[in-house]
Amino acid sequence: MLAGQMIENCIGVFGLPLGIAPNFIVNGRELLVPLAIEEPSVLAALGNAARIFRAGGGFSADSDEPVMTGQVQLLDVTDIEAARSAIERARTEILAQADALAGSIVARGGGARDLKLRAFPQSPVGPMLVLHLAIDCRDAMGANVVNSVCEGLAPLLESLSGGRANLRILSNFSDRRRARASCSLPAAELEGNGQDGLNVAKRIVESSALAEIDPWRATTHNKGIMNGIDGVAIATGNDWRAIEAGAHAWAARDGDYRSLSHWRLDEDGDLRGSIELPLAVGTVGGATRVHPLAALCLKILGVSSARELAEIMAAVGLAQNFAALRALATEGIQRGHMNLHARQLALAAGAPPERVGEIAGTLVAGGDIRLGRAQDLVAGLQDGDSR
Ligand code: MEV
Repeated sequence: MLAGQMIENCIGVFGLPLGIAPNFIVNGRELLVPLAIEEPSVLAALGNAARIFRAGGGFSADSDEPVMTGQVQLLDVTDIEAARSAIERARTEILAQADALAGSIVARGGGARDLKLRAFPQSPVGPMLVLHLAIDCRDAMGANVVNSVCEGLAPLLESLSGGRANLRILSNFSDRRRARASCSLPAAELEGNGQDGLNVAKRIVESSALAEIDPWRATTHNKGIMNGIDGVAIATGNDWRAIEAGAHAWAARDGDYRSLSHWRLDEDGDLRGSIELPLAVGTVGGATRVHPLAALCLKILGVSSARELAEIMAAVGLAQNFAALRALATEGIQRGHMNLHARQLALAAGAPPERVGEIAGTLVAGGDIRLGRAQDLVAGLQDGDSR
């Protein structure tokens, strides 16, 4: 019913597992973090990483004001410099009109903050002037308000520039709306499974180094970060495609695609991690309040603003990254993955839920973790049951 009100041509609801990552402390606050994700291992790894960093006080995080950028593309501008001056002179009027178009966001403390012009005199379609409008969206992700303002401003901008407005849309490169998180702990805390803590920390730093200089590794490194961030985005009804687009544009901001996080070992023998990325998220608007599970997940997180949600998501991304690097730098990720993969094969082979653990255990113990083997085991169960 509700799904049918949210999109057109709705034929059903596509469910994802919703889980909780325990043990998080972000800015001194204890948190249970809900994630919607289909990939095995992510939740277990995340809760484990958050537990490890409790020894260092958890995660510290901060964020920028929730400012989004809208773009208005002006074409057929015969005199770019004259158009630029006319728009600059009308700055106050444009910002006031933007505020009038922004509606309730202004009453909530947001609104137009700034404007900037970018000229492309030799674009493939002739001289082009692009207005960037910065709008503080407070606790909304902001797509609706930014798009409305851009569309509403177009006639004024056309008359000031003598040009024709084409695109009037927000930019998902939300580089003015970034969140940062950091964490540290004594390397000795990483000791385990017969591994010396300092050695584990060094290998994490070495792994991070490749992602800082190489796009092939950086892509995978960042994918692991987004495993955590997207899970929270989906659980809270946020637009994870927008978040993904912004994150990867930020990773490539200087022309080379690089990692979103960094790991270092300091002189005191502490492992230090940090992350920074654009996070355009909302706690009002869109699906955040309409979707009952999203509303519940926001309640579980107990966030009071979109900035706080973004800060938690940055910390979750960093924790997920640590978990992946630690596994990769030590035993590799396949052993843990295989146990969970075996459960998925058991399910795919049609094992009844109460026998999944048993079938998965047999697959792992025999070292033959294949669908065919799982099907044989399930058939064996059925034969046993019918006797
Ligand atoms: C798998 O979903 C994510 C990892 O590949 C991330 C990484 O390699 O850092 C494990």
